[in-house]
Formats: sequence, C-alpha cells, structure tokens
Amino acid sequence: MNGGVLNVALPKGRLGEKVYSLFESAGFGAPDMEKNSRKLIFGGGENGLRFFWVKPSDVAIYVERGAADVGVAGRDILLEYEPDVYELLDLKTGVCRVAVAAKKGFRDDKRRTLKVATKFARIAQEYYNAQGREIDIIKLNGSIELAPILGLSDVIVDIVETGTTLKENDLEVVAEVAPVSARLIANKANYGFKRELINDICRSLAERSVRE
Ligand code: PRP
Repeated sequence: MNGGVLNVALPKGRLGEKVYSLFESAGFGAPDMEKNSRKLIFGGGENGLRFFWVKPSDVAIYVERGAADVGVAGRDILLEYEPDVYELLDLKTGVCRVAVAAKKGFRDDKRRTLKVATKFARIAQEYYNAQGREIDIIKLNGSIELAPILGLSDVIVDIVETGTTLKENDLEVVAEVAPVSARLIANKANYGFKRELINDICRSLAERSVRE
C-alpha cells in the first residue's frame, strides 16, 4: 500500500460499527481493532489505515482540518455544518431522514412565530426560509422529542430512522426535510497527496456498499 498511513475518522456508535465492518469486508480493517473497548485509535501498522472513533458531529471537523484524511459523516452533519471537504461516496448505510415532527393533531397557526426545537439550526432555518415561515429556533443537543411534549416548542426538526422514538412519544412526522445516509468525505489537500490510496478504498467500499 503506497502513500503512508491514512487517518480515518469514524463516527462512534451504531453507525460507526456498521461502517467499520464495511471497511473490514473491503479489505481495509485494522488487525488490532477491539469491540467494546474505550480505546480511541486502532491500526496504523502494516495495513496503513489508522482509525479514530470520533463523536459523529465532530467527524467533519477532523476531516476539514486535516487531522483525518478521510472520514464518514451523515448527510445531516454535512448539510448542517457545510464543511469544506470533498464528498466522495454515498455508503448507502445509516439511511434515515431529517423531518419535521409534532404532537399528533398539531395544526400550524401561521399568524404566530413557530417555535422549532432542533440540533440542526441551519437545516431548520433554511427549510422554513424557503417557505417564508417565521420561526424561533430553540437549539437543543439531544432528546429533542421532549420539547413539544413539554411545550418548549411547537415542532421539532430531527432525525427519524425507524420512527419508534416519535411513536413512543405520541409524535408524528409533519413534513420531510432531507434524506440522509452516511457519506465518505476527504480533506481537500490530503486527497491530493493520497489520491491513489483513497480512490482505491473508495472503489472497494462502493462495491461493498452496493452488495450489503
Ligand atoms: C436519534 C434522533 C431520534 C432517534 C430516531 O437520536 O434524534 O431521537 O435517533 O430514531 P428512530 O426513528 O429509529 O426512533 P439519537 O439516538 O442520535 O440520540 P439523541 O437524543 O442524542 O439525538
């Protein structure tokens, strides 16, 4: 393998595990990878790939700044932070969507400013700007579904995967905002230096992601 060590930022958690399996089955695993470990860095030996486990919303920052050459981030993160990176491949995993949801039976009173709770301030703002709807964004970091239940907001803009969280909290989708899946991204300068290896990985991952 040419081009030296390639630093790969993977999102910690369920998506990261799926994505790592994809790398492994494409022949790019790390021999020392351990499951259920608190270690954050694996690989970097013979194989040439060094994996970092990063908070999912931080992957794009590591890649944009060049601390990682490539990484895997959800399209939601790319839409929200608009990092200056190359988007190389749709890995077709981690498929979900950003949606507007509210309490069952919610009716939007257009005379009032709509209170929107979300982790995705930019995505929400752009969505409602396009509709000319005035909103007040309430930025939260998790458990967004609580906001309309407790009257903190009228609606939420959040990730919906299976829909279970909404259902179990008596909420429902009001509108679809954007489809999401995991994307392979690359640092722009480092891509120039390590193009051959990155393209090689990209091709192998593309074959696997179609099959799985
Ligand atoms: C995400 C999202 C929803 C949930 C949707 O939360 O914010 O709460 O998953 O999944 P579902 O449709 O399959 O139920 P996450 O687990 O990332 O935690 P969070 O509360 O920190 O956002």
